[in-house]
Amino acid sequence: MDKVRVGFIGCGGIAQYHFSHFEKMPDKAQIVACCDLLEERRTKTAERFACTPYSDYREMLNKEQLDALFICVHPGAHDGMEFLAIEKGIPLFVQKPMTLDMKYARKVLRGLKSKNLISAVGLQCRYTDTLPFVKNWVEHHEVAVISCYRFGRVPMVWWWRQMAESGGQVVEQTIHNYDICRYLFGEVKQVQSARRRGIVKGIENYDVDDASSTILTFKSGLIGTFSTGCFGPGPGDFNFYCPDNTKLVYSLGGNYTASSPNMTIEGKCANDYGQECDETFIDAVRGAIPADEILSPYSDACKTLALTLAINESMDLNGQPVKPEM
Ligand SMILES: NC(=O)c1ccc[n+]([C@@H]2O[C@H](COP(=O)([O-])OP(=O)(O)OC[C@H]3O[C@@H](n4cnc5c(N)ncnc54)[C@H](O)[C@@H]3O)[C@@H](O)[C@H]2O)c1
Repeated sequence: MDKVRVGFIGCGGIAQYHFSHFEKMPDKAQIVACCDLLEERRTKTAERFACTPYSDYREMLNKEQLDALFICVHPGAHDGMEFLAIEKGIPLFVQKPMTLDMKYARKVLRGLKSKNLISAVGLQCRYTDTLPFVKNWVEHHEVAVISCYRFGRVPMVWWWRQMAESGGQVVEQTIHNYDICRYLFGEVKQVQSARRRGIVKGIENYDVDDASSTILTFKSGLIGTFSTGCFGPGPGDFNFYCPDNTKLVYSLGGNYTASSPNMTIEGKCANDYGQECDETFIDAVRGAIPADEILSPYSDACKTLALTLAINESMDLNGQPVKPEM
């Protein structure tokens, strides 16, 4: 394939991030069509990439010959767009969280599999150049307990503050952190979670949890806790503790400190992992690399989505244990 012909559904905040990546790979891909419900956004995108703007994705998918589609709408806005794209045989890059309904996610997955289509999800934190060191470290140490947290402000997009549209912080934001936990330590067999509300004040139409604390039990026997809140100064860290007094601290931005009583090793992330994430997908669609080099295909991201939705369910059940179900 010469250049991958790409279409976009959704030209908002995260699409801008992807657009900047496309500008750095003009020899590999070209954005030929874009769709947004908001005229200003689709017009601006059309001017930026000299592509065709659409207000209806059905029309775009029916008229354009696309080699790949980026779906960048908010979680509550997935209304069947994947199914039409799959029917037309188009590989998909879908932003996380891909939906708030596991039945929908499973149906997309079945469609992708039935047509053998390449897919990726925007869990770009898997692509930091430091994560292979961390993965190797955890595989060679007896990590007994993990303790993780993520705090951060309420994003100012209208849909984020409504549970029915975003899924709340665990599903929309902390999904990145839970995904890294799964990537490093494998599947979680049970979650128990508690929520807190009434702390964040003064935001209109706000009904998401302000904070949550979750106990994770992994299939391997590893246990851990995860606290997250819609306030506070920063994304937070993962802390991995071993019985021989070694410890590793990893940040979602990709920096780590591994320490033992005699030695400390530090690593700083030096790659543009968002670029890497998009370029890996495009390279796989071009046939330049095998599809299994995509670190977060839709099939795997479904397991992380199921984990975060199980945490919400446990909160709804006042902390009762829930088993994440694919
Ligand atoms: N991977 C990451 O780190 C990351 C970061 C931010 C956002 N996201 C995810 O990206 C998604 C979008 O977030 P955002 O911040 O860009 O939101 P946004 O509201 O800024 O943009 C979404 C756009 O989609 C458009 N849209 C909605 N329904 C549509 C439809 N049916 N047809 C055409 N356009 C439609 C909206 O008009 C809007 O312009 C969310 O799922 C969010 O979780 C991921």
